[in-house]
Amino acid sequence: MKSVVVTGTSSGIGRACALMLDRNGFRVFAGVRKGVDGESLRAAASEALTPVNIDVTDSESIHAMAEQVAREVGDAGLAGLVNNAGTTLPCPVECLPLDTFRHQLEVNLVGPLAVTQALLPLLLRGRGRIANVTSVAGRAAVPMMAPYVAAKHGLEGLSDVLRLELSDLGMHVAIVEPGFVSTEMRHKLERDTEDTIRSLPPTAASRYGPQLMALADSISSHAAQGSSPDVVAKSVLHALTSDKPRIRYPTGAGARRMLILRRILPDRQFDHVVRRAATRSARADN
Ligand SMILES: NC(=O)c1ccc[n+]([C@@H]2O[C@H](COP(=O)([O-])OP(=O)(O)OC[C@H]3O[C@@H](n4cnc5c(N)ncnc54)[C@H](OP(=O)(O)O)[C@@H]3O)[C@@H](O)[C@H]2O)c1
Repeated sequence: MKSVVVTGTSSGIGRACALMLDRNGFRVFAGVRKGVDGESLRAAASEALTPVNIDVTDSESIHAMAEQVAREVGDAGLAGLVNNAGTTLPCPVECLPLDTFRHQLEVNLVGPLAVTQALLPLLLRGRGRIANVTSVAGRAAVPMMAPYVAAKHGLEGLSDVLRLELSDLGMHVAIVEPGFVSTEMRHKLERDTEDTIRSLPPTAASRYGPQLMALADSISSHAAQGSSPDVVAKSVLHALTSDKPRIRYPTGAGARRMLILRRILPDRQFDHVVRRAATRSARADN
C-alpha cells in the first residue's frame, strides 16, 4: 500500500484530498490539529487512514509526525506529500501588523517548506511526489490580501525550485492552483474581515472599510457558488498518480480563466479586471 501525508485535513480541500486518496487505495496520514477532526475523518474513511497531529508552524509537531510516519512506512518510504494547510487574513498593507504578516508567511510558506524538509528522506526513499496547494492568488495579486498573496507567490517559486532540484532524482513537484472552492475558508474570511475593520484606526476604517467589505462579499459569494473541494482533490490525485503529471493544475471555478487573463493582458488591464472583480459580488452576476 502506498503512503501519503496530507496537511490541513480537518475541512475543505484537505479533507476531500484525504478521503479521495483513501478511496483510491492510499494509506493516508491525515494532518489535523484537533482530535475531534481526526475522529471525524476516521469515521468517513477506511481503516488505513491515520490521523496525525501536524501544526505546520510548530517544528516539534512536524518532527514527531515525521518520526511516526517513518516508523510506520519503513523501507517503502512515502509515495506523496500534499502541502494543503493554509489561512487567509484580509488587511490593507498600510495597517498590516508585521507579526500578522510573519504569521501568515509561517503558515502558508515556511510551514510547507518545514514539512517537506522533514519528509524528504522518506519521499526520496519512496520516489514520492509532492503536490503544493497554492492559489490563483499565487500568480495574480488581490487587494487587501498582501500576506496571502506574498506567501502563495512564494510557494509557487519554492515549488518551481524544488521541482528543478528533484527531477534528476526521479521526483515530481506539482503546483495545484485552486480558484473559487466552496469551503470553510469563506466563513473565516467574513469573520476576519469584520475583525480587521474593527481593529483599524477610524481614518483607516473609513478609507479601507468599504473595499474590505466589498472584497469579502465578492470572494465569499463566488466561493459559495464555487466548485466542490472534490474538484481540487481530483487534480491532486492526478498529480500523485498519473504517468504524465502536470506541473501546474489551475483547478476549480474561475482558475483557468483568471490565469489566462493574467498571461495575455498587459499589467494595467489586468489590474482593472482584478479591481472590478474585487468589488463585484457573485450575486450581481446572476
Ligand atoms: N477555498 C478556496 O476557494 C481556495 C482557493 C485557493 C486556494 N485555496 C487553498 O486551499 C488550501 C485549503 O483551503 P480550504 O479552502 O480547504 O480552507 P479550510 O477549509 O479553511 O481548510 C484549511 C485547513 O488548513 C488547516 N490549517 C490552518 N492553519 C494550520 C496550521 N498552522 N497547521 C496545520 N494546519 C493548519 C486548517 O486546520 P484547522 O481546522 O485546525 O484550523 C484546515 O484544515 C489552502 O492552502 C488555501 O489557501 C483555497
